[in-house]
Amino acid sequence: MDATMEHASVMKVMNATMDAAIPPSDRELFRAVAGSWAAGVAVITSIDGTGSPHGLTMTAVSSLSIDPQQFLISVAETSETLRAIRESNVFCINMLESRQEDVSRRFATKTPNKFDGVAYTSLPSGAPLIDEALAYVECKVVQMFKSGDHQLIVGAVLGLATFDGEPLLHYRGGYKRLTS
Ligand SMILES: Cc1cc2nc3c(=O)[nH]c(=O)nc-3n(C[C@H](O)[C@H](O)[C@H](O)COP(=O)(O)O)c2cc1C
Repeated sequence: MDATMEHASVMKVMNATMDAAIPPSDRELFRAVAGSWAAGVAVITSIDGTGSPHGLTMTAVSSLSIDPQQFLISVAETSETLRAIRESNVFCINMLESRQEDVSRRFATKTPNKFDGVAYTSLPSGAPLIDEALAYVECKVVQMFKSGDHQLIVGAVLGLATFDGEPLLHYRGGYKRLTS
């Protein structure tokens, strides 16, 4: 196949793919594609102005910069934990261990007292570190900006550590574990 023919056949495949694409208004397709990104599971914790702990389950977590050290999280505008983060300006990324699926499920709800029965220690910033997490990053908010229906929050690293264990993963709507 010469270069022109090869280009034509590539364009044909691209057009066929685009024809088959479902409009961006399809929320189910968006969720299916977003959920195809296999991700670790974290609970983002914070404290409100009265010192009460809050937290939500999250997969939208990323390391962002090493010099200076920063992490990025994405929190829905509707999140109750977002209010606490705004009040205290601190949060902790609790990366969950494979045996903490129950913790993930609990913090993915709107239950008022999510910390009842959950063992944790308060870090120097006041943000809770959940017992038996796989790793944690304690952060101070340095930037927060709205994009769509979420707030992107950049946190400067105050402290961090890893512990023994395996990660809890989430893929296509279900919890997964490493098999090798
Ligand atoms: C696997 C998984 C990943 C999630 N990822 C996010 C996320 O990245 N950002 C977000 O705002 N909510 C995410 N959620 C939803 C929140 O955990 C959920 O809306 C929670 O009830 C919010 O609690 P809050 O209002 O007390 O903060 C996720 C839920 C699950 C189960």
